[in-house]
Amino acid sequence: MAWVVVGGNGMLGTDLVEELRRRGCGVRALDLPEFDATEAGCLQALASGQYGRPDWVVNCAAYTAVDQAESEPDRAFLLNARMPGWLADASKRLGARLLHVSTDFVFDGHADGWYDETAAPNPLSVYGASKLEGE
Ligand SMILES: NC(=O)c1ccc[n+]([C@@H]2O[C@H](COP(=O)([O-])OP(=O)(O)OC[C@H]3O[C@@H](n4cnc5c(N)ncnc54)[C@H](OP(=O)(O)O)[C@@H]3O)[C@@H](O)[C@H]2O)c1
Repeated sequence: MAWVVVGGNGMLGTDLVEELRRRGCGVRALDLPEFDATEAGCLQALASGQYGRPDWVVNCAAYTAVDQAESEPDRAFLLNARMPGWLADASKRLGARLLHVSTDFVFDGHADGWYDETAAPNPLSVYGASKLEGE
């Protein structure tokens, strides 16, 4: 199975690329500055197969500076809320499925036990709100 990992140089992306390679999968890692997932030209290149014809595109790219997001909400929402939609569109045009990663910050942390997929989100920060909108 072939994969494209966007944000492939980040913390999660690096580990994912390494693990996929260990399992013998074909992987292309994309990241700044060569690949900017907010740039129409880069998204078009992805959609047209310039980076290969993967089965899966994984979005590990994000704005992850949790505290800094409070003073940079526009940038946080651009990268965490809008960019996943653009990647979803490009993946669909490419014929690949998109795997997107969210965060526990979409919850308020007040639950007694574990959160599951049906738990109600209630972000308490700009970062959490931007990630929720990306979902
Ligand atoms: N780390 C955690 O504890 C944790 C926990 C829960 C969920 N998550 C989620 O897991 C995902 C990955 O997190 P991470 O910790 O691996 O983040 P990270 O280390 O900050 O990696 C994000 C990567 O995305 C790149 N990137 C940013 N903007 C981009 C753009 N416009 N186009 C292409 N690449 C771009 C970054 O490049 P630059 O460094 O050059 O900006 C960086 O390499 C995120 O969705 C995050 O919300 C992480």
